[in-house]
Amino acid sequence: MQTANQNIRPVTHRINEEGNIEIGGCDLTKLADEYGTPFYLFDEATIRSMTSAYKDAFKSYPKMNMMFASKAFMTKAICRIMAQEGFGLDLCSAGEIYTAKESGFDMSKTLFNGNNKSFDELKMAVEYGVGTVSADNFFELSLLDNVAKAYNKKVEILLRITPGIECHTHEYIQTGHLDSKFGFDLTQIDSAVELIRDEYQNLELKGLHAHIGSQIFEKQVYFDEVEVIFKEIRRIKDKFGFELSEINLGGGLGVKYTEEDNPISVYEIAETIINSVEENSKKYGIEKPILFLEPGRSIVATSGVTVYTVGSSKQVPNGRKYFAVDGGMSDNARVSLYQAKYTVDVVNKPEEEKNQTVTIAGRFCESGDILAKDIKLPELEAGDLLCFYTTGAYGYSMSSNYNRVLKPISLLVKDGKSDIIIDRQTFEQLTEADKIPDRLK
Ligand SMILES: Cc1ncc(COP(=O)(O)O)c(C=O)c1O
Repeated sequence: MQTANQNIRPVTHRINEEGNIEIGGCDLTKLADEYGTPFYLFDEATIRSMTSAYKDAFKSYPKMNMMFASKAFMTKAICRIMAQEGFGLDLCSAGEIYTAKESGFDMSKTLFNGNNKSFDELKMAVEYGVGTVSADNFFELSLLDNVAKAYNKKVEILLRITPGIECHTHEYIQTGHLDSKFGFDLTQIDSAVELIRDEYQNLELKGLHAHIGSQIFEKQVYFDEVEVIFKEIRRIKDKFGFELSEINLGGGLGVKYTEEDNPISVYEIAETIINSVEENSKKYGIEKPILFLEPGRSIVATSGVTVYTVGSSKQVPNGRKYFAVDGGMSDNARVSLYQAKYTVDVVNKPEEEKNQTVTIAGRFCESGDILAKDIKLPELEAGDLLCFYTTGAYGYSMSSNYNRVLKPISLLVKDGKSDIIIDRQTFEQLTEADKIPDRLK
């Protein structure tokens, strides 16, 4: 069965009677008139089709703990949707913990991740009642035990390990190979377990956690990841007598940014993971554990688009034709960070033939601020609206105020209605934290 991550466009995308792109029943030209550009748009139906697909695909496995990796896109409204969908949240900073709590999220259904959690962040996690902490390194084990002691609590932890599995994705988003900044190397696990047993009385080791990377298109890596984890659980049981009952396989399922991308469906990874758990629980004589998953990108990427207005243009003599838009690297860092590629349509003429090769430049003072290089589009003119698809994950999350440009507004659309879920910043907000020392006044 197909799932939305295998499409470039959101599930409600259509071209309406006026010949414009419509998503969630909203005509994007009208949204541009009402809210201005650039704007991020999120289609609620697409998000919920992905959460439903995850639940359905794993329904034969009774011990699931589905979490949304909120780093992909974090706002209070998303927390609400995840709560309604029965998902937990994977959080990775004090800011994400704070946002979840403020949204009214049940904090016992959250997990705290990260390779350098600070003392204050761990304190906040314990104080707010975060359900599980994924402990990443020796330094953190000691910090967390101190915090837990101070609160007279026992904190449930998973050990984040690097399983030594390489997946074929961009090296910046690979995380499970051995030379990684994340987690305990397999050779360090025993020392960590020993410390927890002998010294860290306020930590309760529940299981192991791994995340092998992001934008993954292969099934086999998930199969192998399960095997590595089961092997370690068996070893830990034999050597230390610890019965680990939870495993977290991370996120990583890929999405379709361009026609060249061929991601697999949620059902395919579910089948692979469930088969591997069945096989390895028999092979290693281990009871089937509680299984955590923490997908981020695959839940929200396809739901999101970014809409820009075309402004200036430049024809380089005997060279490229550039069109500049009113956004760029501050609302979408992925192009300059990972050479990410996108599919683009013109909102107000989506069906016109794409007969010219153009490069879409951002408006920022960096030559590298290019949003799409050498793509095919129809004839363009100032005022046309461009729709960049699949920007729902790691777009807003990685946004900045570079050049002191305001962050775009974020809209959630459903059944012809658009709601603001993150308002456009104001100049007052942009400068409110600035201070002028007395000697400069
Ligand atoms: C530990 C962990 N879990 C989950 C995710 C989410 O991955 P994705 O958005 O590819 O599903 C990440 C992303 O970097 C991660 O580091």
